[in-house]
Amino acid sequence: MMNQQYIAYFILIVGIFSTVFPIHVVTLKCKAGFENIAKWCFSIHLESKSLSKSREICEKTGGNMVLLDEHMKLNLLRKYIQEKRLIHKLYVKNKEALLKSYQELQDLLTHHKKYCKSYKKNKLKKPTEEFYVPNAKLPVFFDENERARLTTPPGYFIANSSIPSAGYGAWTMTGVKKYTVLGEYEGEEHKKEGNQPYSWVIYEDKERKKKHYIDASSPAKSNWLRYVNCARNVREENVFSFGCDGLVFYMTTKDVEPNTELLTWYGENDGRFLGITRLHPASEMNLKSASHIRLSYMPKDSLKDYLKYHQNWFSNKYDKKSNKTYHGIIDIYEDGTWTMQREGNYTYYTGEQGLLVPFVCEHEPLEKE
Ligand SMILES: *[C@@H]1O[C@H](CO)[C@@H](O)[C@H](O)[C@H]1NC(C)=O
Ligand SMILES: *[C@@H]1O[C@H](CO)[C@@H](O)[C@H](O)[C@H]1NC(C)=O
Ligand SMILES: *[C@@H]1O[C@H](CO)[C@@H](O)[C@H](O)[C@H]1NC(C)=O
Repeated sequence: MMNQQYIAYFILIVGIFSTVFPIHVVTLKCKAGFENIAKWCFSIHLESKSLSKSREICEKTGGNMVLLDEHMKLNLLRKYIQEKRLIHKLYVKNKEALLKSYQELQDLLTHHKKYCKSYKKNKLKKPTEEFYVPNAKLPVFFDENERARLTTPPGYFIANSSIPSAGYGAWTMTGVKKYTVLGEYEGEEHKKEGNQPYSWVIYEDKERKKKHYIDASSPAKSNWLRYVNCARNVREENVFSFGCDGLVFYMTTKDVEPNTELLTWYGENDGRFLGITRLHPASEMNLKSASHIRLSYMPKDSLKDYLKYHQNWFSNKYDKKSNKTYHGIIDIYEDGTWTMQREGNYTYYTGEQGLLVPFVCEHEPLEKE
């Protein structure tokens, strides 16, 4: 009996000394607006801001964006957020709009698969026919160099693009309903990659080992869809390309107004070639069920294992030897668990400002009180 009581007291004393003592006895002085937590000075900003604005605010108040360089720091921050019940206030601005655009993307993928299944079965017979706008038939005699232009179907025309220095573009003359299929996209078949912005790749097997390209760089050997330019953001994107049965088709992603240029996403590689990235935040973050906060981090060895378990973005490549810092978004769940990913360039979906999210600043403590 006595022995057990003795053990219980012992544990209690150890408990007090290891958790309460170091935090409460040493108080450090922080600048106005910052709070002292252990050996750090933090300020949490609940208003959702862009990356550049968050940085600016941290600097204006005399600090920097918090830098995650040890485990302890993040653990304490998380505890702080939970204890102060801030979790419900850490929300992404325009989250509803972002979730909606993500849903639209998913719907499109479902819809094109459905279309393709039906196409494989029925080719261009019913029921897919009513949503299908075939290429115009070529006349018997024509100038070869005009081939592509001559395949433009009624209701569409080729004219200068609305995008500066993009050359010609493909335009609607009349309104076009959402999910209308255009094409097929014609070009020369190559085994090697052709002229980048005019080539679509067709994978011949599920493992993506065998492939060929449909290259429309020559107007004499392609059709009007070669004039569809690359969209710079989701607002102007109105056409989606997809492979089906070894062919490439385009499908409208929304009801398109008359006199509108058709613009599509050229794909990850060609998009980057044009300086455009198309990352949707919802494909990297858990926008549905988590709260979010921005910080910066340094992928040092001391954090490697820690990050390995909590990092969402496995394609996140960085040089562990350099002291480069990255900006990350932490998703915090109700049960206290979290994941983290490097903040991507989401401007294709979010607009120029990027992701608007709460953030944390820090500064070195001033002196011991
Ligand atoms: C189309 O663009 C070309 C080259 O930029 C220009 O010379 C021409 O005037 C434009 N045409 C129209 C109708 O705007
Ligand atoms: C993000 O991408 C857009 C184009 O998609 C580009 O204009 C912008 O400069 C990029 N922003 C950053 C911070 O890299
Ligand atoms: C990174 O910082 C550490 C000290 O914090 C320094 O010893 C090291 O040389 C730096 N590495 C590089 C590549 O700058």
